Amino acid sequence: MSPGSAGASASRAGGASLEVEARDAAATRAIGEAFGRTAPEGAVVLLAGPLGAGKTTFAQGVGRGCGVTGPITSPTYNLILHYPGERHFTHVDLYRLDTPAELETLDLDEILSGDGVTCVEWPEKLGERVWVPPPSAEVVIEPKPDGARTLRVRLIGEGWEAARRRLAAAER
Ligand SMILES: Nc1ncnc2c1ncn2[C@@H]1O[C@H](COP(=O)(O)OP(=O)(O)OP(=O)(O)O)[C@@H](O)[C@H]1O
Ligand SMILES: [Mg+2]
Repeated sequence: MSPGSAGASASRAGGASLEVEARDAAATRAIGEAFGRTAPEGAVVLLAGPLGAGKTTFAQGVGRGCGVTGPITSPTYNLILHYPGERHFTHVDLYRLDTPAELETLDLDEILSGDGVTCVEWPEKLGERVWVPPPSAEVVIEPKPDGARTLRVRLIGEGWEAARRRLAAAER
């Protein structure tokens, strides 16, 4: 493991997709934090993966990277939480969304084109009709039997150079 890799190791999956391994929750949080610091302005980070994969853990790191100092809780019951920081951090969790019609009750266009960085858990619930404007990232978190997580990351749009460098550093 290289210094500064926060317990992560990775191998390039080819194309614009990177694969990083996070051996524990702290490593997942550290990768999220690097995202919060380096993501381009207005980025939307879609966090996919099964129940308990570590989506909220990653999002908490993103919030820290945005300079949020208070506790970052799971917005499962609120659906959307806003945090002031050095950068505005928005945390969306669509788990409790039952029907696509309910999406209409949220001001999604405004949320997805908001400032700072926005994380969305359970992005599958956005359905086909919702367009996520770039810059955006797709992070698929896959639990491994030993408790580590494989993070598959796709970076879409401009301005991801610093984040890409951080992920590449975790490969070494
Ligand atoms: N490598 C790891 N990365 C992330 N979380 C880990 C890891 N190893 C163990 N964990 C633990 O797994 C749990 C992940 O919970 P978390 O709430 O982040 O998942 P989630 O994907 O948001 O779940 P939900 O689907 O309920 O929203 C935490 O208790 C965390 O400490
Ligand atoms: Mg969660």
